[in-house]
Amino acid sequence: MRTVIEPYRIKSVERIKITTEAERVKQLEQAKYNVFKLPAAEVMIDLLTDSGTGAMSDEQWGAMMVADESYAFAKSYYKLEKQIKHIFGYKYFLPVHQGRAAEKILFSNVLSDILPNGKYKNAGANRHILSNTHFDTTRANIEFNNGTAVDLLTNEGLNPASLAPFKGNMDIEKMRNYIKKIGRENIPLCMLTITNNSNGGQPVSMANIKAVSEECKKHNIPLFLDACRFAENAYFIKMREEGYQNKSIVSICQEMFSYSDGCTFSAKKDAIVNMGGILAMNNATLYEQCKNILIITEGFESYGGLAGRDLEAMAQGLVEVVEESYLHHRIHSVNYLGTTLQKMGIPLVQPIGGHAVYVDVTKFLPHIEASQFPGIALVCALYQKGGIRACEIGSVMFGYQDASNNFIPSPMELVRLAIPRRVYTQSHIDYVIETFEAIQKITKTLRGYKMTKSEVLLRHFTAEFTQV
Ligand code: F0G
Repeated sequence: MRTVIEPYRIKSVERIKITTEAERVKQLEQAKYNVFKLPAAEVMIDLLTDSGTGAMSDEQWGAMMVADESYAFAKSYYKLEKQIKHIFGYKYFLPVHQGRAAEKILFSNVLSDILPNGKYKNAGANRHILSNTHFDTTRANIEFNNGTAVDLLTNEGLNPASLAPFKGNMDIEKMRNYIKKIGRENIPLCMLTITNNSNGGQPVSMANIKAVSEECKKHNIPLFLDACRFAENAYFIKMREEGYQNKSIVSICQEMFSYSDGCTFSAKKDAIVNMGGILAMNNATLYEQCKNILIITEGFESYGGLAGRDLEAMAQGLVEVVEESYLHHRIHSVNYLGTTLQKMGIPLVQPIGGHAVYVDVTKFLPHIEASQFPGIALVCALYQKGGIRACEIGSVMFGYQDASNNFIPSPMELVRLAIPRRVYTQSHIDYVIETFEAIQKITKTLRGYKMTKSEVLLRHFTAEFTQV
């Protein structure tokens, strides 16, 4: 059959308020042109993120009803443990309330020296964490702990037009050179983001995970995966990498994780829950240290920052996310949006990623320079014309003022249309496509923005703008 149907049907719905363009113009003004500040009720199609926005299944909701809310080692903890052992396979895991909690715990450990009295002393700026591309919270948690976050993406990954199948890969040569330059003793950890969110949601190949792992082993550097979208990554491996076509998704996941020493995981993505995450590892000493911080900042080791019902939802979500029919539809539907936009001539990051479509705004709005945030111009146009909320991944998120107050732009100006899991139907997606048709007719009239307020870290959440 030509049509890939949703492998689920709708049992409960959430109503959407249909707004007018005039209402939306007012909303944008009130939000100071930062769509993070818009009330969600005023958004018709919310593609801001695929994180925590998925629709849970009846089985997940059902599991929540039978959850065990005991403080320590509830039944629900063991259910989650079983599923995590099955897919991830690490010796130890800690539940956390979301991905960045895992990052905070991990990096406050590996970027500190632990003194004989058990107190932590930050190790200073000389510790470097290597990655294909750090996600913004990962980078922020490293920098907040005085560390240096290093992105070592392949050159093809840096080229939005390249059609290479695994553009999330880390560059092994760049990695070797960096280790040589900085010295192994200054690199407590290497981290691979699968799929590579900040680089178009591009997958990382099994061969690359293995090669990075081997390079890490040579230098005795632990390798962690930022595993937010591990199942989508596994599906791309199955589709695109030789030798994996006949393997099950679970066995591909098991192989990916087997090359690493631990992971951080935001369950808000590939466990299809609204809140949750894990930090997992094989090293017993690191586990004990992380557990201490978990207990201080998140909660007891068997629940982290979560309720028993959250653990249940996560355990069941991890069953559903590795189902091939689910992943087939998921990747196909994101691809449908991407290929249709592409046929219309909208410049996109190629090939289409796993969880989102990324518009190459430098090409789409070439008349707006990076210092006037072309991504914000497109994000505002999408909201004004269609009530669609998208996310700028460009110079607001990654640009900055250097020590001499010069504007340093992001290497790419992208706008991400992230697709929540199991939430929107094909007609919603067709509506998004029509909104782009409308915007395409008025691109020349779109103007840039000036940032009037910003924070140093993660400024995209709180920045304010005026139209130029
Ligand atoms: N790592 C990656 C690759 C992510 O995409 C995210 C979150 C995190 C870590 C942090 O996880 O949100 O649970 O604390 N990404 C969301 C997004 C926010 O919209 O892409 P978290």
